[in-house]
Amino acid sequence: MSATAFTVSASQFTGAKQRRALNARKATASSSSRRAVTMTVAAGPKKIVIAGAPASGKGTQCELIVEKYGLEHISAGDLLRAAVAAGTDLGKRAKEFMDRGDLVPDEVVVGMVVEALDTNKAKSAGWLLDGYPRSASQADAITAEGIVPDSVILLDVPDSAIVERVVGRRMDPETGKIYHLTFNPPPADVAERCTQRSDDTEEKCMNRLKVHHSNVEAVVGKYEGKINEIDGNRAKTDVFSDICGVIDEM
Ligand code: AP5
Repeated sequence: MSATAFTVSASQFTGAKQRRALNARKATASSSSRRAVTMTVAAGPKKIVIAGAPASGKGTQCELIVEKYGLEHISAGDLLRAAVAAGTDLGKRAKEFMDRGDLVPDEVVVGMVVEALDTNKAKSAGWLLDGYPRSASQADAITAEGIVPDSVILLDVPDSAIVERVVGRRMDPETGKIYHLTFNPPPADVAERCTQRSDDTEEKCMNRLKVHHSNVEAVVGKYEGKINEIDGNRAKTDVFSDICGVIDEM
């Protein structure tokens, strides 16, 4: 894979500010007096992590990203729910943690994710890893396998907006499409078959939020220089537009 390397200051690693800095550096490719971190811009298949609080819109944005960029979408939550539904040993172990809104132990989730990334499609088309890593140890585990994202998109949504998103979420089991009773209602012919996730209650959401807040900084620290924080508390098309800005610059 060919790549272009350039540098930016560590103080510039936040959202739009970071992207502007990266653009400026790309335009000049000149030496800088504030070289803190070397950024490598991938020219091959894109490798992206999308992170954020529960119901921050990761799945919603992944649907749009996959449609536009054709990346392989690997959702840790979806892999775990599939294992639970299939009644596998790993699924049985995962269930009690998911029911509480706690993180499933690494020995259950890491292998699933590494296996899902080890496919021809993911290697040739690039990948979009959703909801993984959620802890420093999970980041270390994939790094040890040589799995390193080019960019980490971090959706920022205030806790005050999260509960409403969680309790109103519905999913079409036939298509996997995500809806919201208020913000994105399902069409009438789809509405009656829509289901609600068992962890989408206010009580479980509060625990999921707590778990998120106690881990997110550790994950961010593992990907210094690659974090693109995006305001996720806007219309999904506006959020997507900013995400495209990040991906197009990769
Ligand atoms: P997972 O399934 O990954 O859940 P999550 O991280 O809590 O995220 P969600 O799927 O709830 O939300 P989302 O960000 O995808 O939002 P969505 O687009 O649906 O994980 C579930 C569980 O599995 C975890 O609790 C844990 O137990 C386990 N697990 C998963 N990964 C693990 C890991 N790596 N390690 C250990 N355990 C793990 O949107 C939410 C709602 O908001 C929808 O209704 C949508 O329509 C609406 N919405 C979206 N965008 C907008 C917008 N811009 N404006 C208004 N509404 C919007």
